[in-house]
Amino acid sequence: MMKRILITGGAEAIQSKMKFKKKILCIGAGYVGGPSMAMIAYKCPDYRVTVVDVNPDRIDAWNSAQLPVYEPGLDKIVKKTRGKNLFFTKDIENQIKENDIIFVSVNTPIKTYGAGADMAADLQYWEKTARQILKHSRSSKIVIEKSTLPVKTALAMGKILASAKGKIKFEILSNPEFMAEGTAISDLENPDRVLIGSYETKSGLKARAELIEIYARWIPPEKIITSNIWSSELSKLVANAFLAQRVSSINSISALCEKTDADISEVARAVGMDNRIGDKFLNAGIGFGGSCFKKDMLNLVYLCSYYGLQEVAAYWKSVVNINEYQQERFIANILDRMFGTLAGKKICILGFAFKANTSDTRESPAIYISQKLLAEQAQVIISDPKALKNAAMDLSGIKGNVKYIEDPYRAAAGCHALVILTDWDLYQKLDFQKIYSAMVKPAFLFDGRNIIDHKKCFAIGFNVYPIGKPALSHFKN
Ligand code: NAD
Ligand code: UGA
Repeated sequence: MMKRILITGGAEAIQSKMKFKKKILCIGAGYVGGPSMAMIAYKCPDYRVTVVDVNPDRIDAWNSAQLPVYEPGLDKIVKKTRGKNLFFTKDIENQIKENDIIFVSVNTPIKTYGAGADMAADLQYWEKTARQILKHSRSSKIVIEKSTLPVKTALAMGKILASAKGKIKFEILSNPEFMAEGTAISDLENPDRVLIGSYETKSGLKARAELIEIYARWIPPEKIITSNIWSSELSKLVANAFLAQRVSSINSISALCEKTDADISEVARAVGMDNRIGDKFLNAGIGFGGSCFKKDMLNLVYLCSYYGLQEVAAYWKSVVNINEYQQERFIANILDRMFGTLAGKKICILGFAFKANTSDTRESPAIYISQKLLAEQAQVIISDPKALKNAAMDLSGIKGNVKYIEDPYRAAAGCHALVILTDWDLYQKLDFQKIYSAMVKPAFLFDGRNIIDHKKCFAIGFNVYPIGKPALSHFKN
C-alpha cells in the first residue's frame, strides 16, 4: 500500500508569506525537474523553489512519503527542503505569474506521427509550455531550457514569447542537464560541468549572470561554463551521442571477441588505460537503454539529415543500429544455446531496469528481450529489486506466460535458464550454488552485463554465456 502524506494547501500558504531572495519555478516534475530543483532548494535555503506539473498524480506523489522517482539520496534532500523552500503544486497558472526564473523540464520524446516520425523530437509539450508562460505572465522572466532539445529550439520559443504584450520581455537560456539516473544526486551535487548558453546580447548576458549566481552557491566557478545558446543546445545532444557511441563501439567489438576467443573485459581494460581514450563507458552488455540515448541519437540523425548532411546522419545512425544488433545477437544466442527451442521452458530474467539503482525501465533492453522470449513461447519470470511495477506496465497487453517475483531465489527456482539484464550489485552477491540446486538441469546462465564470477558459476555446474568472452560450457561438441 502506498503511503501518502499530503502537505498541499498549508505549504502553499506558507510560501506566499515568506520572504525569499529568489523565486524559481520549474515546469515538469519528472526525473529531471524533481531532483534538480530539490538540489537547488537544498543548496540555496534562501531561494524559494516551486515545481509544477500537468499530471496531478505526479505532484501528489512528490508531496507524499513515496516519491515518484527512485534515486539514492533523493529522499533525504526532499525531506530537508519540502514545505520549507521547496514546493510541489498543481497551480501552474499562478506560479507562472509569481516566479521570475522559470526552468522548463518537460518531456521531449520521439515524434510518433507526421513528418519526422520515429526520429525527430516531439516538441509539443515544450511549445505548450511556452504558450502557457506567454498567457499567464504579468512581468518579464528568464525562461531556461532544461529539457534536451534540438539545436535552434530557442529561436522558435523566442518567436512565440516575443508576441507578449506591453513591456513584458522573455530572455531564453539553455542549461541542459547532464545527470544520469541512479547517480542523479551525486551528479547534481558535484557535476563535471554546468553549461549555460545565452544570446550574447546585453540582456542575454545579464540573464546568464543570474543563473550563474544560483549554481555558484555550490559549484566551483571553473566548472560553470558558458557558450552561445546554439552551442549549448547542441552540446547536450553531442554529449549523449558520444557516450552512446562508446557503448556501441565496445559492443561491436564484443561480437568480434566471441568469434576470436578474445575477452572483451581484457580488451576494454587495455584500451581504456590509454589516457586519451579513458576507461568509462566501455562495459559491453545488451545495449544501452534509458529514455534519452536512443531518442537523442535519432534526433541528432534527423537534424543532420534536415541540414542535408547525409553522411554524418548515417555515421550516427550506425550507433543505434549496433545497439539493436547487440540485442538481436543476445536473443539469438539464447535460442541457439538452448537447442533451438524455448517453448515451455522457464526463463528467469534478473533485472528489468535499464541500469542499476533506478526503477526506470524506459527503453530498457529488457522490454524487447522479454517480448522476444515470450514470442518463443518461453515462460518468463521477471525479478528486479525496484522496477517490477514498471515492468508489469511495460509488458501489459503482451501475450504470453509472465510472472513477477522480486526475490531472485524464488524467481529462479524451477527455471531452465537465468538471464541477467541489469547490473544491480545484488546479483554479484547471490548464492549461485543455492540457485543452481533449485534449477532444471542442464542449467544455463546468460550474463548480459558481465557482472558475475563466470568461472565460479561454471564450476558450480552452470553453462555460462557471457558477452564478448569465451562460453564456459559443460557440453561436449
Ligand atoms: P519525465 O517524463 O519524467 O518528466 C516530464 C514531466 O513534464 C512529466 O511529469 C509531464 O507530465 C510534465 N509536463 C509535460 N508537459 C507539461 C506542461 N505543459 N506543463 C506542466 N508539466 C508538463 O521526463 P524527464 O526524464 O524528467 O526528462 C525531461 C527532459 O530532460 C527531457 O527532455 C529529457 O531528454 C531531459 N533529460 C532527462 C534526463 C533523465 O535522466 N531522465 C537527464 C538529462 C536530461
Ligand atoms: C545518460 C547520460 O549518461 C547523462 O549524462 C544524460 O544526462 C542522460 O543520459 C540523459 O540525457 O538522459 P542515463 O541514460 O541515465 O544517462 O544512464 P547512463 O549511465 O548513461 O546509461 C545509459 C545506458 O547505457 C544504460 O542502459 C547503461 O546500462 C548502458 N551502458 C552504460 C552500458 O551498456 N555500458 C556502459 O559502459 C555504460
